[in-house]
Amino acid sequence: MAVPGYLPPRRGPFNPPDLLGRLRAGDPITKVTLCDGRTAWLVTRYDDACFVMCDPRFSADATNPSLPSLSPGRVFPWSRRTMSRMDDPRHADLRRVLAPEFTPTRVAALGPTIERIVTSGIEGMLATEVKPVDFHTAFADHVPRRLMYELLDVPAADQERLRAWAKILTSRTTTVEHLTEADDALYGYCADLVTQRMAESAEAPVESADFIGRLVARGRRDEPGREPLSHEELSMMVKLLMVTGQLPTANMISLATLTMLLTPGWFWAIQTNPEVVPDAVEELLRFHTLLHDGVPRVAKEDVVVGGVTIAAGDGVIVSLASGNRDASVFERPNELDMTRHRAGRHLTFGAGVHRCVARGLARAQLRIALRTLAVRIPTLQLAVPFAEISFLEDMHIYGVRELPVTW
Ligand code: HEM
Repeated sequence: MAVPGYLPPRRGPFNPPDLLGRLRAGDPITKVTLCDGRTAWLVTRYDDACFVMCDPRFSADATNPSLPSLSPGRVFPWSRRTMSRMDDPRHADLRRVLAPEFTPTRVAALGPTIERIVTSGIEGMLATEVKPVDFHTAFADHVPRRLMYELLDVPAADQERLRAWAKILTSRTTTVEHLTEADDALYGYCADLVTQRMAESAEAPVESADFIGRLVARGRRDEPGREPLSHEELSMMVKLLMVTGQLPTANMISLATLTMLLTPGWFWAIQTNPEVVPDAVEELLRFHTLLHDGVPRVAKEDVVVGGVTIAAGDGVIVSLASGNRDASVFERPNELDMTRHRAGRHLTFGAGVHRCVARGLARAQLRIALRTLAVRIPTLQLAVPFAEISFLEDMHIYGVRELPVTW
């Protein structure tokens, strides 16, 4: 499928396009033409990428018409913004309401829930009478979806349509009409959840409420210098969680498992020595990046980055995939080395104030999923040749379309 945008096709499913490597070497901050005909600066080196994401002179504000759009359907400005597309200080207010849900203590407390969901996914696969099984649907998608729907208390009957809307929102080829329809529908659903919790938990203390109830309660607190969160802000937060809470982790579980299956000895290594899993997960995150077309920003004033002046109002795309393959930070960057020293410096979760707030939860799911799979299905293997696997070049979040496996 021809994917519109600034990027040529990849160099094989596991490698970003060659162009990114050439730009890093010779023209690391360069103008590219986007699918809507406008231009933006493409930032390809690790240090420059961190600089742009951490410098408050670069904005992620979706109401700014100059914020680059990464797909034909993605039309800025949005009337409603998620926290990932707004700037401080309001962004920080929202982040303070959400971040307590993903502290290391909370993530650790969710461990047994993740273990239970992972085990149920594996047992569901093992119980199947027909093989091969599509691992992506049966397991990779099942784990974060069940977890998020349990956390957000979404009834089973609603889950399929929520999933369909989230898919449309992450497509790089969708039309404006489709995107707007899915966006409105998902927003409406989340707004109803928030309305219910607002009615239920008017007087309840934060800690006695469920996940959305706690967001509502924390958002209501009138702290000095902070306006309480509006119904719309809370609804957009829940909507963001419905999308980001599932697709990236699901896609990463499939990509990580596929890579493990192609790397002889790794399932065995995990079984005999589970301590290798955290480093392996970081390297897999670095290697695959997931948000493969990058994150958008716009300069609020003239800023010099790596010797190039980016003028006020210029759009910028930070290539996380390119930064993750920068040889000045990662030795032999195109090789997968599951024991790589400090692979966790990768840019897969972004950097700066918008760095993924739930990265601890994503890491926990990946670690538990890989460790449990290796122990419970040690003979897991691909059921088709690698060349037959179809990858999601047409989505903002990279992954596989299906992953037929057997054991
Ligand atoms: C492997 C899985 C994941 C990857 C690769 C990933 C990646 C990212 C990246 C790159 C950003 C920053 C975007 C930017 O700077 O413009 C981000 C932000 C965010 N992510 Fe994740 N994410 C993952 C899992 C999750 C999960 C499981 C959740 C929720 C349960 C989540 C919720 C969020 C939220 C709310 C933000 C916005 C943070 C802010 O603007 O302050 N992500 N994620």
